Amino acid sequence: MKFFIDTADLDEIKEALSWGCLAGVTTNPSLYARTGGKLADFEDHMVKIAEMCGDLPVSAESQAKTTEGMIEEGRHLASLAPNIVVKLPICAESLAATHTLAAEGVRINMTLIFSAPQALLAANAGARYVSPFVGRFDDIGEDGISELANVVTAIGNYDWTGKNVDNVCEIITASVRTPNHVTQAALMGADIATVPFGALKKCLKHPLTDQGMASFDADWAKVVAAQ
Ligand code: E4P
Repeated sequence: MKFFIDTADLDEIKEALSWGCLAGVTTNPSLYARTGGKLADFEDHMVKIAEMCGDLPVSAESQAKTTEGMIEEGRHLASLAPNIVVKLPICAESLAATHTLAAEGVRINMTLIFSAPQALLAANAGARYVSPFVGRFDDIGEDGISELANVVTAIGNYDWTGKNVDNVCEIITASVRTPNHVTQAALMGADIATVPFGALKKCLKHPLTDQGMASFDADWAKVVAAQ
């Protein structure tokens, strides 16, 4: 399973990229707002992220509400950098926009997916990625992981050749809050997990690793002292 980082914060992206295990970035309007960025700077910010990421995919979300608006904004966002993926929230308008944009070779990440039927509609319209949300189910006392499992099985049952420029529909596990979400997503074969930086750091750590490092250091100090 590949790791994306779910943030618009340039420092977080820079640090996560330095780890050498990042395969992409997802942003959304809330994440951009959290950076304190202004409307006028949004496109430059997305271009900056895209440039930092080389050829890794970077999702930039359209704020248009009509099919025509999404097509126009989608074309524009995709023209900003070759690795920009246009993110659209699932609805009738975005399905129609995806159908048109995918035929033009624009990669779409269909977001705010909460069910297998939504994911199937998105993939059939031509989405390059579908983003089922896990944590927001958990937030309302439901089981996000079992909903994700439905999406993984449903999308995995079919061949998406001819639907988009890459002939695949990858599942981005979104709204990830914990290392266990990452584990469960990988065990069921989700293609990608997009993880906020805080949760990514939790994935890196384990108390037994810390203990192990401390005891190795202590024992090595004895070896050095005995010289
Ligand atoms: C997906 O791409 C979204 O940016 C995201 O994962 C939202 O998650 P949240 O529930 O933490 O806002």
